[in-house]
Amino acid sequence: MVPFNLENGEKKRGVLFGGSGLIGGTIVNYFKTKKPGLVDIRAPSSKKVSLRDCRDIREYLLTVRPDFIINTAIANIDAGSQLTFEVNYLGAINIARAAATLKVPYIFFSSAATLPPGTNLEEADQLPVTARQSNYAKSKLMAEQTLRYMAENSGLDYTVLRLAVVYGSHDHKIQGFHRLLFSIADKSMPFMFTKKGVIHSYSSSRKLPYLIHHMLNNRQEYGGNTYHFVDRDPIELARMILTIKSQLGLSRPKELYVPYTVARAGKNGAKGILRMLTSIGLKTTLPPELMFLGAFYRTQTLSCQRLAASSFIDPFPEETVFSRLPEMISYYLTRWSHQNLISTFDVKPGCDDSIGNSFKLNPQALLDSIHRDGTAPFQDLEDCSLDCLPPKS
Ligand SMILES: NC(=O)c1ccc[n+]([C@@H]2O[C@H](COP(=O)([O-])OP(=O)(O)OC[C@H]3O[C@@H](n4cnc5c(N)ncnc54)[C@H](OP(=O)(O)O)[C@@H]3O)[C@@H](O)[C@H]2O)c1
Repeated sequence: MVPFNLENGEKKRGVLFGGSGLIGGTIVNYFKTKKPGLVDIRAPSSKKVSLRDCRDIREYLLTVRPDFIINTAIANIDAGSQLTFEVNYLGAINIARAAATLKVPYIFFSSAATLPPGTNLEEADQLPVTARQSNYAKSKLMAEQTLRYMAENSGLDYTVLRLAVVYGSHDHKIQGFHRLLFSIADKSMPFMFTKKGVIHSYSSSRKLPYLIHHMLNNRQEYGGNTYHFVDRDPIELARMILTIKSQLGLSRPKELYVPYTVARAGKNGAKGILRMLTSIGLKTTLPPELMFLGAFYRTQTLSCQRLAASSFIDPFPEETVFSRLPEMISYYLTRWSHQNLISTFDVKPGCDDSIGNSFKLNPQALLDSIHRDGTAPFQDLEDCSLDCLPPKS
């Protein structure tokens, strides 16, 4: 049999769950823009195919009959146990069952939450599943274990990719690293909520699709295994915060380190106030990342040795979270300013801003000019007969 390869034979079809998210969106974008024509990648939204519904998954996958499946979908990080179990675990496993039926590779995303604190942690250093873990960590650990079991017992061809703190553009939910960036830019972090010397690993969302592409083309090498996907050098959290602060030209957070016990007491106090506000009808919540407050005070770094020893070659070896920081700051500040999420920064007018200003200050003139110049039928489509338009789907 010819080994599976995206470049061989007929155009391959892939299904990706979680395409509207940070990681899934980056992978879909890679195949659409960097490798156009290579793969027909389908990314159904959760409305079309909910991972909570086994029938949805089965019907969709057995109808589409993909050549590979990628699962980047997760319930909100602070979702309750039922929802987390259904989406993160049962959904992941039902996809695996379909992948085993179709005999196609399955790439599953997991997280450093499955590992203990410590340095240079290897893939085998997985935590045992316990009741006290967060719903998120528990669901990922259980999914990893069941996938391994299915590989041994049902011939499933899978790869688990464990990510650490992910950085990159297009995080529409503002989570993880981007929440940290947001808190500093929004001046809502007065002091350092960490302690000196705490270091973490970082994962680049931009490099990830290159790895997926390579892994799909080399199933013999990567099938049935788990890999850490992290930058080579871990980073001290305090250094990261101070670098962001300096690049934003801000005076906060002050370089005063808040001890964990004080930070935890503050978090619990804030929770109490929010409960009171909720009881009088003012619904507001703490950022979900605060459930990981302890991680700001604990070192956790992942070994990238297993992946480095494989045949994958880093497409941007010099790129780190620091080298991407200016670009990410510019992207997110513009985005958050446009969304009225922060007002701390004056984002320089871009080429579209004249329209934005007209919309804000003189909407009638804008409307008149559009009626004059911008409502005629599309000339190029008129020239072509209706027959040459794509069929209605
Ligand atoms: N981002 C990080 O810092 C980080 C760190 C470590 C590991 N990871 C892992 O990387 C993977 C991707 O994370 P991400 O940050 O890209 O997530 P994300 O931005 O929160 O996106 C989550 C995706 O899951 C989909 N989803 C939610 N509920 C669903 C349901 N019931 N059925 C189908 N789809 C559903 C959402 O689709 P809709 O919008 O259509 O609901 C969305 O596309 C996850 O496995 C995560 O554990 C991420």
